[in-house]
Parts: sequence; C-alpha cells; structure tokens
Amino acid sequence: MNILVIHGPNLDLLGKREPEIYGKETLEEINNLLEKKAGERKVSLKIVQSNYEGKIVEVIGSSLEWADGIIINPGAYTHTSIAIRDALAAFNKPSIEVHLSNIYARENFRHHSYISPVCTGKITGLGKLSYLLALEALLEIIK
Ligand code: DQA
Repeated sequence: MNILVIHGPNLDLLGKREPEIYGKETLEEINNLLEKKAGERKVSLKIVQSNYEGKIVEVIGSSLEWADGIIINPGAYTHTSIAIRDALAAFNKPSIEVHLSNIYARENFRHHSYISPVCTGKITGLGKLSYLLALEALLEIIK
C-alpha cells in the first residue's frame, strides 16, 4: 500500500513557527513518527513538503496511479486553493485533510476549507496526532 503525505506552506518551519499554536515538534519529528507507523504496517510513504501551490498540484497529479491514499495538510492553501481541491478531486481515492491546530477555534478566515468537500474526512486540532490518526484511518479505509 502506498500513501502520499503532503505538507503545505510554512510547515517546514514547524518547531520554530508559533509553537503555542502548532506545537514544538519539527516536521522531521512528525515525519519520523509517520515513517515508524508505516514501517510497522508495511506501508510505503512518499512525504513531500512544498511552499508552492503548483508543486502540490503536480505532486498529486503525478501520484494518481501510485498512491492508494493521500494525507494532506494544505496549510494556508486550505483556505484559498481551488487548484489543490481540483487535483484532489481528480485523485478520486481516499484522502484525509489534516491540521495541527483547530481551525474552527481560530480566525474566521480559517473556518472555510476549499479542500474538505473533496476529502474522505478531516482531522483538525490534535497536533501531531492529527497526522498519525489520519494514517490509521486511511489504512482502515483502504484495506
Ligand atoms: C494549518 C492551519 C492553517 O490555517 C494555517 O494556515 C497553517 C497550518 C494547521 O495545520 O493547523 O499553515 O493547516
């Protein structure tokens, strides 16, 4: 089973970026936890971080065959990107939107997601657990 994990803009700064909101873990630490779980379950991960909307669209488009599921934290593109939404709609297999913070407990502009309607489900507000639970859920959904 192959799972594509996408981290959107500014998530490369985790650990330094507003730790009171996003936590103290670095992206590398979160990726290591995901890799550990994936290894235990004999699942292959492709993990990509990009600050560029077009790059994220391309990664999704080039994984249509390879990936059995997608975990995506689109960062601020959650609230702006029809292009990423359309790419996920084209994927047409299970996908989970994740957020470290609870976007509904924050500014109004974060309450709307262009991504949610084209995802199987969404986990928001559980910090690194958002990603780990998303992986658990995808494995259950796909198997
Ligand atoms: C985020 C929430 C977004 O609103 C924000 O722009 C991010 C991170 C989260 O993981 O909580 O960059 O996706």
